[in-house]
Amino acid sequence: MSADPSSAGYFGRALCGRGRLYEGRVLLRDFAHDSRDSSAISRTLVLMRVRRLLADDVSLIATIDRSEHVDVQYRVIDGRLTEQPVAMSEIPTWDPTGSGPHSVAAQVDFCTSLIADGAVLLGAFDEEKPVGLAVVDRSFEARLAWLAFLHVSRPHRRRGAARALWAAAVDLALAAGAKAIYVSAVPTGSAVGFYLRQGCRLADPAHPALYAKEPEDIHLVRSLP
Ligand SMILES: CC(C)(COP(=O)(O)OP(=O)(O)OC[C@H]1O[C@@H](n2cnc3c(N)ncnc32)[C@H](O)[C@@H]1OP(=O)(O)O)[C@@H](O)C(=O)NCCC(=O)NCCS
Repeated sequence: MSADPSSAGYFGRALCGRGRLYEGRVLLRDFAHDSRDSSAISRTLVLMRVRRLLADDVSLIATIDRSEHVDVQYRVIDGRLTEQPVAMSEIPTWDPTGSGPHSVAAQVDFCTSLIADGAVLLGAFDEEKPVGLAVVDRSFEARLAWLAFLHVSRPHRRRGAARALWAAAVDLALAAGAKAIYVSAVPTGSAVGFYLRQGCRLADPAHPALYAKEPEDIHLVRSLP
């Protein structure tokens, strides 16, 4: 490790030396590397931190590799999560230059307008590297928060980044008085598997406005203590 992650200013250096807001949450997690010799499993300590970012840090979206291989896809049929044939097995990363719905520009616009309306941008950092981003609207409705955006860059998945972002979003929602957090998840195995693991259940009924925007998504909600 080249810098002491516990030192103040660690993330200031990581983010161009500008002063940054707080919101520290640390997740330490061991993970196992597979080896050709299954008896030789090494364990590596991963330090994942989440910080609350400033509005202009939405430009970090361009650093996220959103691409994904999909081998499980779902749809809700008769109130049940039902496995479906995979429609697109290789989801590409966002278009870095265009302005279509799957472009970096469209994601930046989406997040920027939410942040302008009071939503919070969170970033997960593996040591000094930004690896994931989330946007949470703490007061989407009375006592209801909405996790509007959650993406972890492909090379950094399955290391707890999304879990750390989720935990920070839940903390912010609780502090704002929310009793539940809602998410409209892309219908792939990774997103749905992640949210179910965080204690989400199918929203019944789905939120009308969010459902109208994303009818193909899996609409989930988790009650907050
Ligand atoms: C979904 C996503 C955010 C998860 O990020 P991540 O940092 O890899 O997730 P974590 O490492 O914190 O995983 C926590 C737990 O979620 C579950 N999970 C994560 N990825 C999963 C997958 N591909 N399949 C099934 N369960 C999964 C597991 O239970 C995992 O715990 P484990 O690794 O100990 O088994 C990430 O895969 C991603 O960005 N996907 C593409 C974009 C996307 O779908 N975003 C959500 C939009 S709504």
